[in-house]
Amino acid sequence: EIVYFNGEWMKYDQAKISVFDRGFMFGDGIYEVTPFYEGKAFGLQEHLARLQYSMDEIMIELDAASLKPIMVEAISKSGLSSADAAVYIQVSRGVAPRTHYFPEDVEPTILIYAFPASLKAFENKQWSVLVSEDLRWHRCDIKSTSLLANVKSNTQSHRLGLDENLLLRNGLFTEGSHSTIFFIKNNVVYTHPEGPQILSGITRKFVMEICKELNIDVIEEAFPFSHLNTVDEAFLTGTTTQVMAVKEMFTDGNKIYDKPEIGSLTRKIQQAFIQKTR
Ligand code: PDD
Repeated sequence: EIVYFNGEWMKYDQAKISVFDRGFMFGDGIYEVTPFYEGKAFGLQEHLARLQYSMDEIMIELDAASLKPIMVEAISKSGLSSADAAVYIQVSRGVAPRTHYFPEDVEPTILIYAFPASLKAFENKQWSVLVSEDLRWHRCDIKSTSLLANVKSNTQSHRLGLDENLLLRNGLFTEGSHSTIFFIKNNVVYTHPEGPQILSGITRKFVMEICKELNIDVIEEAFPFSHLNTVDEAFLTGTTTQVMAVKEMFTDGNKIYDKPEIGSLTRKIQQAFIQKTR
């Protein structure tokens, strides 16, 4: 309902952007989503650091740390101080006449708001996912608002009644449309290495820490589609996804992965994650 827009708090329908905002015209902007468990931020420094990284990479000059008090205020102003919620931050290039290059000295457009998020009970759910081609660009490490490939893929899985996508680039799993993928094989956890092909997930980082604490080996290696039949367990992670077990995978109407029960290592990691975040 209430949003922070370019320095002021207002009702969402009072916030107006220019048709020449480059976020609107080019998707020239970046965003960040930070979880708040019962009013308390989790991984705040990590989210601010990634926000700074995204802005630096696209040359938006703004100090991410200056947005920290506004994030906290967004939670209280939205009456979410004792609920599970998340804060959305979007910074776009700003308003300028339409040219592909961006001119210098454009004021960025800043939008921040809090929304209720169901961060609980993921240990009672499993997701069914569509395996599809990774149609995205080669800088997925930037949390860009240009999400057309993610939107196209996720709409396809949604229309099939599925929960998420697993994206394949050159026969290797990269990540989900809005989550990180982990595979478990012979008690070893595999996840794609950081780099331009994936978003450096904050939940991913915490889950890797958990694996270390539990003495579970993690290999940061892209998992091949052709090895899917050797997988014991798979789970997805993300700010809104938390630690979600994968139940089924589909391609072109065929079921290619079927695990009706949540695996034992996934359960262990989920329990440790709940301990960490609560
Ligand atoms: N999505 N990969 C992609 C492509 C993502 O969009 C996200 C997060 C993740 C998980 O990152 P993290 O653990 O830091 O949330 C991985 C956010 C939540 C979104 O788009 O809403």
